[in-house]
Amino acid sequence: MSRNFGDHQFGIYLAGMLEGRTPKLTTDLARLEERAREALSPEAFGYVVPSAGSGSTARANREAFERWRIVPRMLRGVARQRDLSCEVLGTGMAAPVMVAPMGVQTLAHPDGELATVRAAAELGVPYIHSTAAAHSFEQVAEAGGDAERWYQLYWPTDQDVCVSFLHRAKAAGFSVLVVTLDTALLGWRPADLDRGFLPFLNGTGLANYLTDPHFQGVDNPILHWAQMFANPGLTWEDLPFLREHWDGPIVLKGIVSAEDARLAADHGMDGIVVSNHGGRQVDGGLGALDALPAIAEAVGDRLQVLFDSGVRTGADVVKALALGARAVLVGRPILYGLALDGQAGVEHVLRCLLGELDVTLALSGYSSPAELGPGSLLAR
Ligand code: FNR
Repeated sequence: MSRNFGDHQFGIYLAGMLEGRTPKLTTDLARLEERAREALSPEAFGYVVPSAGSGSTARANREAFERWRIVPRMLRGVARQRDLSCEVLGTGMAAPVMVAPMGVQTLAHPDGELATVRAAAELGVPYIHSTAAAHSFEQVAEAGGDAERWYQLYWPTDQDVCVSFLHRAKAAGFSVLVVTLDTALLGWRPADLDRGFLPFLNGTGLANYLTDPHFQGVDNPILHWAQMFANPGLTWEDLPFLREHWDGPIVLKGIVSAEDARLAADHGMDGIVVSNHGGRQVDGGLGALDALPAIAEAVGDRLQVLFDSGVRTGADVVKALALGARAVLVGRPILYGLALDGQAGVEHVLRCLLGELDVTLALSGYSSPAELGPGSLLAR
């Protein structure tokens, strides 16, 4: 599974110098957002880009990354061919990077999740399928072939639908269950509220639901969905239900408190994603990276710690890994690539991110991500 992602850099220079070809999209991933604005409708841009409330949590996510600085080390004999591959909960990956679960991807491009899963498969990066996707488990499985994939559950109030989703995901080859906990209801999102825009209400993003046996024959499927989507009554005591119906690792997504991380371990969970949903849920929340060191310290080796929210560059990946994440999930940049150039755009984003990660690792004196630790960084 070892690949030399840093070679992408040289490949771009060669194409430029020998053939006069330059990349179609910018290699500066932090700048993709402004380009995506041109490609997305105002409604789609409003759904994908802005965050909850005043946007302060999303800003905190970026500020947290800015507070940590990499301390490059010299003369450490960095391997010529670095190996970024790793394994998380039985899933092999070409680099410690995964595609975050994101719903309604047809807002960005008509091919939606099918383009994203194909791009992820191409790069050897696992894809996480959202319950709120615009394509079903089965469609995504067919597009993804043998590639690694996980399933993200929005736990519906209807238990039959919940169990059916778990069975369909398992049958379609999704190996790890990710349960998102920070969306007991939708965050207060002014960009969508001001337009009165919620894609689900015209049926977009309901593919898993509308293809489910428990949705057949109901009078009004959208109303049926609206009645079961939010499940604010869930507690830690409900977790054994998932164990009963899911034979495989379970990861809780949306943890930002060390106490909740400990509870996850106490309840026998296999992993957590330290995440604030990219700032789309609680406004005024802490930056996700600010939560990571204490959580990594609190749980040690008791479960696998993953991270997302605010990752934009290879250096960001280095920082999250150094502070205790085993792998990171990337969110919006994937959708920007999708919006700008479909599957090729997602591949571009992943290739640049992994290339930049590889180069940053080498320049900092590391041959593999496993060598990173708190000593790799200094706080500003
Ligand atoms: C999301 N996210 C998300 N998370 C989840 O568990 N299920 C979902 O269906 C969605 N849907 C979704 C849609 C869109 C448009 C976005 C931007 C995000 C959150 C996602 O998994 C991840 O936590 C954040 O996107 C990470 O932050 P960044 O990388 O976008 O800053």
